[in-house]
Amino acid sequence: MIPVNEPLISERELEYVTECLRSGWISSEGRFVREFEEKWAAYCGMRYGVAVSNGTAALQAAVTCLDLQPGDEVIMPTFTIISCAQAVVYNGGVPVLVDSDPKTWCMDVSQIEEKITPRTKAIMPVHIYGHPVDMDPIREVADKYGLIIIEDAAEVHGAEYKGRKCGGLGDISCFSFYANKIITTGEGGMVLTNSEDYAEKLRTLRNLCFRKEQRFYHTELGYNFRLTNVQAAIGLAQLERIDALVEHKRRIGHMYTERLSDIPGLQLPSEERWAKNVYWMYGVVLDEGTGMDAVEFAKRLATRGVMTRPFFLGMHEQAVFHKMGLFKGEHYPVAERIARQGLYLPSGMALTEEQIDAVCTAVHHIIR
Ligand SMILES: Cc1ncc(COP(=O)(O)O)c(C=O)c1O
Repeated sequence: MIPVNEPLISERELEYVTECLRSGWISSEGRFVREFEEKWAAYCGMRYGVAVSNGTAALQAAVTCLDLQPGDEVIMPTFTIISCAQAVVYNGGVPVLVDSDPKTWCMDVSQIEEKITPRTKAIMPVHIYGHPVDMDPIREVADKYGLIIIEDAAEVHGAEYKGRKCGGLGDISCFSFYANKIITTGEGGMVLTNSEDYAEKLRTLRNLCFRKEQRFYHTELGYNFRLTNVQAAIGLAQLERIDALVEHKRRIGHMYTERLSDIPGLQLPSEERWAKNVYWMYGVVLDEGTGMDAVEFAKRLATRGVMTRPFFLGMHEQAVFHKMGLFKGEHYPVAERIARQGLYLPSGMALTEEQIDAVCTAVHHIIR
């Protein structure tokens, strides 16, 4: 089987991890956590970085910074991972959804303003599968209504919007460093911000809201979202060669596009003129006219040795939220179509050109 993802680990990761193990700095104290935070923030063009245990924790902590009151609303795409919506729900708020752009699969920014109410506190754009969200209209709406932007940049390490790095465009931005991400720490995440107040709050929230003066006296509830020095060591080693990793991802994306662009009925990832797509995962959407949905397509690819993953299923189609009385009767036609017709092909760092050829031959055979 050709796997959907396989990370590339170099000698440098081994060297840094060994340093942690030999020195005994294996929990969340140690030089690698601080360096990883500083260097990742600098890479993305933000002032402060707060490393956390995963991307879901990053979103949870970021939303906690909003101090939501029951019923306060956060606008986000329906087409995303549940981590986004659950962060709002766990913080007592209500996720308010918009549909996807049919070309980029990111949130349709033209639908945001009509969803704003007196309860709206924030907008959460999520860059999807390597392609940036169109951020300028979001900033315009956010400024007009005094809203915070929490940017979910988990899937777009190194991607650019009008020449600026994704994850450097919101008021707070969130990352995942799970093993399938462009740079990884195994499990891990980070929150970035230019605000000293948010940074301080995030550091406190991450570490059980211990206080400097009287450690075990608490005035607020926090989380244990600490990243270990061992994980940060892997991340720092990866970050040292991020330019090469991003270029490698783009090369994989271009190789797929060259080999698949002549197949009718198969939509490939786009790259808007204002965007640098990093093709985190190479998604494809089958035209309904092919008579096949993504489940059937995935089955046929699997019989030819190609592993795939389905696209996200919209938040408005989740039983867990219906049980809470959320999103009932809501429809988002683009997200619904791409959820049923979309999947992503093997896209890992370790993918070879021969494997890409084999995947594309399989796709050609199945669709033709
Ligand atoms: C857009 C997005 N946000 C958040 C997350 C959550 O990250 P984690 O798996 O590290 O909790 C993911 C995970 O892949 C993601 O794709």
